[in-house]
Amino acid sequence: MKDLLGIEELTRQDMERYLATAVDLKARLRQGAKKMAVLSGRVVVTLFLEASTRTRTSFELAGRFLGAHVQSFALAQSSVDKGETLVDTARALDAMAVDAIVVRHAVAGVPHDLARRLEAAVVNAGDGWHEHPTQALLDALTILERRGRVEGQRIAILGDIRHSRVARSAMLAYGGLGASVTVFGPATLVPEGVEAYGAEVATSLEAALAGADVVQVLRIQRERMHAGLIPSLEEYHRRFGLTQERLRLARPDAVVMHPGPVNRGVEIESRVADGPRSAVMQAVENGVAMRMAVLCHLLGEGGSR
Ligand code: NCD
Repeated sequence: MKDLLGIEELTRQDMERYLATAVDLKARLRQGAKKMAVLSGRVVVTLFLEASTRTRTSFELAGRFLGAHVQSFALAQSSVDKGETLVDTARALDAMAVDAIVVRHAVAGVPHDLARRLEAAVVNAGDGWHEHPTQALLDALTILERRGRVEGQRIAILGDIRHSRVARSAMLAYGGLGASVTVFGPATLVPEGVEAYGAEVATSLEAALAGADVVQVLRIQRERMHAGLIPSLEEYHRRFGLTQERLRLARPDAVVMHPGPVNRGVEIESRVADGPRSAVMQAVENGVAMRMAVLCHLLGEGGSR
Protein backbone atom coordinates (compact mmCIF):
# COMPACT_ATOMS: atom_id res chain seq x y z
CA MET A 1 0.00 0.00 0.00
CA LYS A 2 1.51 3.33 -1.07
CA ASP A 3 -1.01 5.59 0.70
CA LEU A 4 -3.40 5.76 3.62
CA LEU A 5 -6.57 7.28 2.24
CA GLY A 6 -9.38 5.80 4.26
CA ILE A 7 -10.48 3.00 6.56
CA GLU A 8 -12.58 1.95 3.57
CA GLU A 9 -9.44 0.54 1.97
CA LEU A 10 -8.10 -1.30 5.02
CA THR A 11 -8.68 -4.88 6.05
CA ARG A 12 -9.05 -5.89 9.67
CA GLN A 13 -5.55 -7.29 9.50
CA ASP A 14 -4.17 -3.94 8.27
CA MET A 15 -5.84 -2.16 11.19
CA GLU A 16 -4.55 -4.71 13.67
CA ARG A 17 -1.05 -4.22 12.32
CA TYR A 18 -1.27 -0.45 12.78
CA LEU A 19 -2.57 -0.98 16.32
CA ALA A 20 0.23 -3.38 17.24
CA THR A 21 2.91 -1.03 15.90
CA ALA A 22 1.38 1.94 17.71
CA VAL A 23 1.28 0.03 21.03
CA ASP A 24 4.97 -0.73 20.62
CA LEU A 25 5.89 2.84 19.63
CA LYS A 26 3.87 4.32 22.49
CA ALA A 27 5.80 2.18 24.97
CA ARG A 28 9.06 3.41 23.46
CA LEU A 29 7.89 7.04 23.55
CA ARG A 30 6.98 6.65 27.20
CA GLN A 31 10.57 5.54 27.84
CA GLY A 32 11.68 8.81 26.29
CA ALA A 33 12.65 7.55 22.82
CA LYS A 34 12.07 10.68 20.80
CA LYS A 35 15.06 10.41 18.51
CA MET A 36 14.63 7.27 16.51
CA ALA A 37 16.38 6.78 13.19
CA VAL A 38 13.72 4.70 11.47
CA LEU A 39 12.94 7.41 8.90
CA SER A 40 16.23 9.24 8.80
CA GLY A 41 16.79 10.81 5.39
CA ARG A 42 13.05 10.75 4.64
CA VAL A 43 11.03 13.90 3.97
CA VAL A 44 7.45 14.40 5.15
CA VAL A 45 5.42 17.48 4.20
CA THR A 46 2.19 18.46 5.94
CA LEU A 47 -0.19 20.21 3.53
CA PHE A 48 -3.14 21.44 5.59
CA LEU A 49 -5.72 23.53 3.78
CA GLU A 50 -8.15 23.41 6.71
CA ALA A 51 -7.67 24.36 10.35
CA SER A 52 -6.01 21.87 12.66
CA THR A 53 -4.28 21.71 16.02
CA ARG A 54 -3.94 18.09 17.09
CA THR A 55 -3.74 16.31 13.78
CA ARG A 56 -1.11 18.53 12.23
CA THR A 57 1.07 18.82 15.33
CA SER A 58 0.95 15.11 16.02
CA PHE A 59 1.90 14.20 12.44
CA GLU A 60 4.81 16.63 12.60
CA LEU A 61 6.01 15.31 15.96
CA ALA A 62 5.56 11.75 14.73
CA GLY A 63 7.79 12.40 11.73
CA ARG A 64 10.44 14.12 13.85
CA PHE A 65 10.50 11.43 16.54
CA LEU A 66 11.17 8.90 13.76
CA GLY A 67 14.06 10.96 12.45
CA ALA A 68 12.42 12.25 9.25
CA HIS A 69 12.81 15.78 7.99
CA VAL A 70 9.40 17.40 8.42
CA GLN A 71 8.33 20.42 6.45
CA SER A 72 5.14 22.25 7.23
CA PHE A 73 3.55 23.81 4.15
CA ALA A 74 2.57 27.41 4.93
CA LEU A 75 -0.52 28.16 2.91
CA ALA A 76 -0.52 31.90 3.40
CA GLN A 77 2.94 32.31 1.87
CA SER A 78 2.44 29.75 -0.88
CA SER A 79 1.48 29.92 -4.53
CA VAL A 80 -1.96 28.50 -3.74
CA ASP A 81 -2.73 32.09 -2.85
CA LYS A 82 -1.59 33.09 -6.33
CA GLY A 83 -4.20 30.83 -7.87
CA GLU A 84 -2.14 27.71 -8.44
CA THR A 85 -4.17 24.51 -8.39
CA LEU A 86 -3.59 22.12 -5.54
CA VAL A 87 -2.48 19.44 -7.97
CA ASP A 88 0.25 21.72 -9.35
CA THR A 89 1.35 22.61 -5.82
CA ALA A 90 1.52 18.95 -4.87
CA ARG A 91 3.35 18.06 -8.10
CA ALA A 92 5.99 20.65 -7.25
CA LEU A 93 6.45 19.00 -3.86
CA ASP A 94 6.68 15.62 -5.57
CA ALA A 95 9.38 16.96 -7.88
CA MET A 96 11.43 17.84 -4.79
CA ALA A 97 11.41 14.14 -3.92
CA VAL A 98 9.22 14.43 -0.88
CA ASP A 99 8.51 10.94 0.48
CA ALA A 100 5.12 11.58 2.07
CA ILE A 101 2.48 14.28 1.87
CA VAL A 102 -0.02 14.49 4.72
CA VAL A 103 -3.02 16.35 3.38
CA ARG A 104 -6.14 17.90 4.88
CA HIS A 105 -8.69 19.52 2.61
CA ALA A 106 -12.31 20.66 2.80
CA VAL A 107 -13.24 18.69 -0.32
CA ALA A 108 -13.84 14.94 -0.15
CA GLY A 109 -11.61 12.89 -2.44
CA VAL A 110 -8.70 15.35 -2.72
CA PRO A 111 -6.16 12.98 -1.10
CA HIS A 112 -7.33 10.15 -3.38
CA ASP A 113 -6.82 12.33 -6.45
CA LEU A 114 -3.34 13.36 -5.31
CA ALA A 115 -2.42 9.76 -4.51
CA ARG A 116 -3.13 8.73 -8.10
CA ARG A 117 -0.97 11.50 -9.51
CA LEU A 118 2.01 11.56 -7.15
CA GLU A 119 4.98 9.36 -6.43
CA ALA A 120 4.94 10.40 -2.79
CA ALA A 121 2.90 8.46 -0.25
CA VAL A 122 -0.29 10.39 0.52
CA VAL A 123 -1.86 10.30 3.97
CA ASN A 124 -5.41 11.57 4.39
CA ALA A 125 -5.56 13.82 7.46
CA GLY A 126 -9.24 14.60 6.85
CA ASP A 127 -11.07 15.19 3.56
CA GLY A 128 -14.30 17.14 3.89
CA TRP A 129 -17.07 15.03 5.39
CA HIS A 130 -15.56 11.86 4.05
CA GLU A 131 -12.79 10.18 6.07
CA HIS A 132 -10.21 10.79 8.78
CA PRO A 133 -8.53 7.40 8.99
CA THR A 134 -5.76 8.16 11.50
CA GLN A 135 -8.35 9.57 13.93
CA ALA A 136 -10.32 6.32 13.78
CA LEU A 137 -7.15 4.29 14.31
CA LEU A 138 -5.99 6.35 17.28
CA ASP A 139 -9.47 6.13 18.77
CA ALA A 140 -9.42 2.36 18.27
CA LEU A 141 -6.09 2.30 20.11
CA THR A 142 -7.65 4.27 22.97
CA ILE A 143 -10.57 1.83 23.17
CA LEU A 144 -8.14 -1.08 23.13
CA GLU A 145 -6.19 0.42 26.05
CA ARG A 146 -9.23 1.38 28.11
CA ARG A 147 -11.39 -1.66 27.46
CA GLY A 148 -8.82 -4.36 26.72
CA ARG A 149 -10.27 -5.07 23.30
CA VAL A 150 -12.28 -3.47 20.52
CA GLU A 151 -14.11 -6.61 19.51
CA GLY A 152 -17.50 -6.99 21.17
CA GLN A 153 -17.61 -3.42 22.53
CA ARG A 154 -20.88 -1.53 22.26
CA ILE A 155 -19.99 1.88 20.94
CA ALA A 156 -22.38 4.83 20.72
CA ILE A 157 -21.44 7.72 18.43
CA LEU A 158 -23.45 10.84 19.20
CA GLY A 159 -24.13 14.18 17.56
CA ASP A 160 -23.39 15.64 14.16
CA ILE A 161 -22.94 12.44 12.18
CA ARG A 162 -23.77 14.08 8.86
CA HIS A 163 -20.81 16.45 8.66
CA SER A 164 -18.35 14.21 10.44
CA ARG A 165 -15.46 12.50 8.70
CA VAL A 166 -14.52 11.23 12.15
CA ALA A 167 -17.84 9.37 12.38
CA ARG A 168 -17.53 7.79 8.92
CA SER A 169 -14.02 6.49 9.57
CA ALA A 170 -14.96 5.43 13.11
CA MET A 171 -18.01 3.44 12.02
CA LEU A 172 -15.92 1.54 9.47
CA ALA A 173 -12.99 0.96 11.81
CA TYR A 174 -14.92 -0.11 14.91
CA GLY A 175 -17.26 -2.31 12.89
CA GLY A 176 -14.32 -3.79 11.01
CA LEU A 177 -12.60 -4.62 14.31
CA GLY A 178 -15.69 -6.44 15.56
CA ALA A 179 -17.45 -3.81 17.72
CA SER A 180 -21.13 -2.96 17.38
CA VAL A 181 -21.82 0.69 16.59
CA THR A 182 -24.97 2.69 17.25
CA VAL A 183 -25.35 6.32 16.20
CA PHE A 184 -27.73 9.00 17.35
CA GLY A 185 -28.18 12.71 16.70
CA PRO A 186 -30.77 15.24 15.60
CA ALA A 187 -32.70 13.85 12.61
CA THR A 188 -31.27 16.62 10.44
CA LEU A 189 -27.74 15.51 11.30
CA VAL A 190 -28.05 11.76 10.81
CA PRO A 191 -27.67 11.10 7.07
CA GLU A 192 -29.52 8.37 5.24
CA GLY A 193 -27.47 5.30 4.49
CA VAL A 194 -25.53 5.13 7.77
CA GLU A 195 -26.36 1.42 7.79
CA ALA A 196 -24.00 0.99 4.83
CA TYR A 197 -21.20 1.86 7.28
CA GLY A 198 -22.28 -1.03 9.47
CA ALA A 199 -23.94 1.14 12.14
CA GLU A 200 -27.42 1.08 13.57
CA VAL A 201 -29.42 4.26 14.13
CA ALA A 202 -30.91 4.51 17.63
CA THR A 203 -34.41 5.87 18.12
CA SER A 204 -33.48 8.03 21.12
CA LEU A 205 -30.47 9.31 23.01
CA GLU A 206 -31.42 7.06 25.91
CA ALA A 207 -31.54 4.00 23.63
CA ALA A 208 -28.14 4.86 22.15
CA LEU A 209 -26.58 5.22 25.61
CA ALA A 210 -28.19 2.17 27.23
CA GLY A 211 -25.46 -0.34 28.03
CA ALA A 212 -22.79 1.41 25.97
CA ASP A 213 -19.14 0.56 26.73
CA VAL A 214 -17.86 3.56 24.80
CA VAL A 215 -19.60 6.89 24.17
CA GLN A 216 -18.00 8.97 21.44
CA VAL A 217 -19.30 12.52 21.13
CA LEU A 218 -18.79 14.59 17.98
CA ARG A 219 -18.29 18.30 17.59
CA ILE A 220 -21.11 20.28 16.06
CA GLN A 221 -19.49 21.23 12.74
CA ARG A 222 -20.98 24.69 12.40
CA GLU A 223 -18.55 25.63 9.63
CA ARG A 224 -20.05 22.93 7.42
CA MET A 225 -23.70 23.74 8.16
CA HIS A 226 -26.35 25.81 6.52
CA ALA A 227 -28.65 27.64 8.88
CA GLY A 228 -31.55 25.74 10.36
CA LEU A 229 -30.07 22.29 10.92
CA ILE A 230 -29.94 22.72 14.66
CA PRO A 231 -32.09 24.91 16.91
CA SER A 232 -29.94 27.07 19.19
CA LEU A 233 -26.76 25.81 20.83
CA GLU A 234 -28.52 25.95 24.20
CA GLU A 235 -31.34 23.79 22.95
CA TYR A 236 -28.90 21.42 21.29
CA HIS A 237 -27.22 20.98 24.65
CA ARG A 238 -30.53 20.43 26.42
CA ARG A 239 -31.69 17.79 23.99
CA PHE A 240 -28.53 16.12 22.74
CA GLY A 241 -25.63 17.14 24.98
CA LEU A 242 -23.76 14.47 26.96
CA THR A 243 -24.29 15.32 30.62
CA GLN A 244 -23.26 13.40 33.70
CA GLU A 245 -26.85 12.44 34.28
CA ARG A 246 -27.25 10.99 30.81
CA LEU A 247 -23.92 9.18 31.05
CA ARG A 248 -25.42 7.14 33.89
CA LEU A 249 -27.42 5.25 31.25
CA ALA A 250 -24.20 3.82 29.83
CA ARG A 251 -22.25 1.07 31.60
CA PRO A 252 -20.75 2.25 34.90
CA ASP A 253 -17.25 1.84 33.46
CA ALA A 254 -18.03 3.35 30.06
CA VAL A 255 -15.33 5.41 28.38
CA VAL A 256 -16.09 8.88 27.00
CA MET A 257 -14.35 10.01 23.83
CA HIS A 258 -14.37 13.18 21.72
CA PRO A 259 -11.91 13.89 18.89
CA GLY A 260 -11.60 17.56 19.82
CA PRO A 261 -11.86 20.45 19.48
CA VAL A 262 -14.61 20.39 22.12
CA ASN A 263 -17.48 22.87 22.26
CA ARG A 264 -17.82 22.87 26.03
CA GLY A 265 -21.41 23.09 27.19
CA VAL A 266 -22.77 22.28 23.72
CA GLU A 267 -22.23 18.64 22.71
CA ILE A 268 -20.64 17.73 26.04
CA GLU A 269 -20.59 19.09 29.58
CA SER A 270 -17.17 20.09 30.93
CA ARG A 271 -17.67 17.82 33.93
CA VAL A 272 -17.91 14.87 31.56
CA ALA A 273 -15.16 15.98 29.15
CA ASP A 274 -12.75 16.47 32.05
CA GLY A 275 -14.13 13.69 34.25
CA PRO A 276 -12.59 10.35 35.24
CA ARG A 277 -14.30 8.46 32.40
CA SER A 278 -12.95 10.79 29.75
CA ALA A 279 -10.25 9.49 27.42
CA VAL A 280 -10.00 12.74 25.48
CA MET A 281 -6.37 13.50 26.41
CA GLN A 282 -5.31 9.87 26.23
CA ALA A 283 -6.52 9.86 22.63
CA VAL A 284 -4.44 12.96 21.89
CA GLU A 285 -1.37 11.21 23.28
CA ASN A 286 -2.21 8.15 21.20
CA GLY A 287 -2.38 10.32 18.10
CA VAL A 288 1.40 10.72 18.07
CA ALA A 289 2.04 6.97 18.40
CA MET A 290 -0.56 6.06 15.79
CA ARG A 291 0.77 8.59 13.28
CA MET A 292 4.26 7.25 13.87
CA ALA A 293 2.92 3.76 13.14
CA VAL A 294 1.35 4.98 9.90
CA LEU A 295 4.53 6.74 8.73
CA CYS A 296 6.59 3.65 9.65
CA HIS A 297 4.36 1.33 7.66
CA LEU A 298 4.30 3.57 4.60
CA LEU A 299 7.90 4.79 4.59
CA GLY A 300 9.94 2.53 6.84
CA GLU A 301 12.01 -0.46 5.88
CA GLY A 302 9.76 -3.03 4.28
CA GLY A 303 7.25 -0.26 3.64
CA SER A 304 5.96 0.37 0.18
CA ARG A 305 8.25 3.30 -0.58
C1 NCD B 1 -11.65 16.50 13.82
C2 NCD B 1 -11.48 16.95 12.40
O1 NCD B 1 -10.87 17.94 12.09
O2 NCD B 1 -12.01 16.21 11.58
N1 NCD B 1 -10.69 16.98 14.68
C3 NCD B 1 -9.53 16.27 14.78
O3 NCD B 1 -8.92 15.90 13.80
N2 NCD B 1 -9.12 15.97 16.03
C4 NCD B 1 -12.99 16.65 14.34
C5 NCD B 1 -13.59 18.00 14.39
O4 NCD B 1 -13.10 18.97 13.82
O5 NCD B 1 -14.63 18.08 15.00
